[in-house]
Amino acid sequence: MPNISQLFFKSAVIWLLIGIAAGLQMGMSGNHTVIAAHAHINLLGWVTSAIFGGYYALNPAKAAKRLAFVHYAVYMLGLIVMLPSLYFMERGNMQLEPLVGIGSMVTFLGVLIFAVVMFSRESVAVRQARA
Ligand code: HEM
Ligand code: HEM
Repeated sequence: MPNISQLFFKSAVIWLLIGIAAGLQMGMSGNHTVIAAHAHINLLGWVTSAIFGGYYALNPAKAAKRLAFVHYAVYMLGLIVMLPSLYFMERGNMQLEPLVGIGSMVTFLGVLIFAVVMFSRESVAVRQARA
């Protein structure tokens, strides 16, 4: 499996552990205020990261591009800024709202870079090797 897929899957499982912990905390306390943080830690952190990892595992030529690593770095930076701020904002720290917004935009940028990787052409060498 390409390194970039390993990175996405390893990061994804860390988000899943954190997301489930937040779900368990809600379930056990009966206080569901962190529902959006829990949902997005699991859906952006676990599900979407794992889909990115799967995409690169199926497309080794795209995984070899430097832009794939830029995608990983920008996307994860976005999540690291967005998700903890969202969790603590939902716990009452409303001053964190701008950080949630900034993190969301960086996450969006990460997805935009993924779209560029996806629609980009493979290098001539890769296409010739396949022909
Ligand atoms: C053992 C693991 C988990 C526990 C204990 C748990 C617990 C919870 C709880 C207590 C809620 C709040 C329900 C409500 O107030 O209506 C919730 C909502 C939610 N959970 Fe989980 N969860 C778990 C795993 C996951 C996973 C793995 C995902 C996604 C892949 C997920 C996605 C969601 C979503 C999207 C919502 C919001 C649903 C809505 O908007 O009504 N959860 N979860
Ligand atoms: C940067 C990306 C994203 C932003 C800024 C965002 C923003 C939001 C906002 C503002 C809400 C309403 C929350 C509320 O009413 O309290 C929401 C709800 C929701 N979003 Fe997202 N979202 C993003 C990505 C995603 C993705 C990728 C998925 C699924 C793969 C997703 C699934 C959901 C679900 C299931 C809910 C309802 C659960 C809840 O009550 O929190 N979101 N999102």
